[in-house]
Amino acid sequence: MQIGCKILSLHPLNLYRTVEVYSEKQQITKVLSAFKDQNLTVGLVPTMGALHKGHLALVEKALQDNDKAVVSIFVNPTQFDNKDDLQKYPRTLERDVQLLEGVSKDNIIVYAPSVDDVYEGKLEAEHFDYDGLEHEMEGRFRDGHFNGVGTIVKRLFEIVKPNSAYFGEKDFQQLQIVKKLVEKHNIPVNIVGCDIYREDSGLAMSSRNTRLKSEYLEAAPFIYKTLTTAKDYFGTKSAEEVTQWVENEFRSQKLLELEYFIIADVLTLKTVTEKENNKQYRAFIAVYADDIRLIDNIALN
Ligand code: PAF
Repeated sequence: MQIGCKILSLHPLNLYRTVEVYSEKQQITKVLSAFKDQNLTVGLVPTMGALHKGHLALVEKALQDNDKAVVSIFVNPTQFDNKDDLQKYPRTLERDVQLLEGVSKDNIIVYAPSVDDVYEGKLEAEHFDYDGLEHEMEGRFRDGHFNGVGTIVKRLFEIVKPNSAYFGEKDFQQLQIVKKLVEKHNIPVNIVGCDIYREDSGLAMSSRNTRLKSEYLEAAPFIYKTLTTAKDYFGTKSAEEVTQWVENEFRSQKLLELEYFIIADVLTLKTVTEKENNKQYRAFIAVYADDIRLIDNIALN
């Protein structure tokens, strides 16, 4: 594969590959400014690679809404609080590019930078204040995670200057945090949230699923099954009762270890104590399957 120019290589189904992959911001900036000169709109899909159908759906949506889609593929070190997780994160650039070619050969470009291209020798996260959203759920369990996410997303917005950016609702807290980031920093990007993509088993698609051993892969759909029952119960039971029921269900699961189950207000992400009529709630869950951490969530009303 060549980087930074048209790729021309053999592919079993399709002889010519034309998705462009840029590894340096100077290169991609030139291409993007040519797009701007032609008044073309750009949708950015930030990813860490190991693409699955959920990512491709984001890219499709970006292309429905815009002339061009930029897919960034970058495993961002500053958002990992666990070195092992960072090291083991799947890196499959060649395959990712092939998958994107199945979506569009002409209108997608890939930005797959090195750590140095993004961080310019200073591998540090900026500090962000997201009005408290960062202290809930993932923020409690993954130290500094949202500073790392904010740092890379803000940088990508500065480099790509997209009209819109697309994020999956599987990382619902991240989506709300990115919305807060653009609001607080006056960044002129429209943030679009897209539905969670699921396997037939109900398991939310995630790049991490590829690392699940078969017995854990079989056990993992229990997460979504529990979320859907929790949603049913939420119609008649209190948030606390539903939470207790879920915690109890996981006690009998040998392969899945519940880290948290929380019912929260979608805007503040604060845990619900009393349900209120005109508020929207979501249930959020984090589970360990072996050493792999899986998250999911569901709208409750
Ligand atoms: O959701 C992800 O894959 C990452 O957190 C993101 C938004 C690409 C930032 O690295």
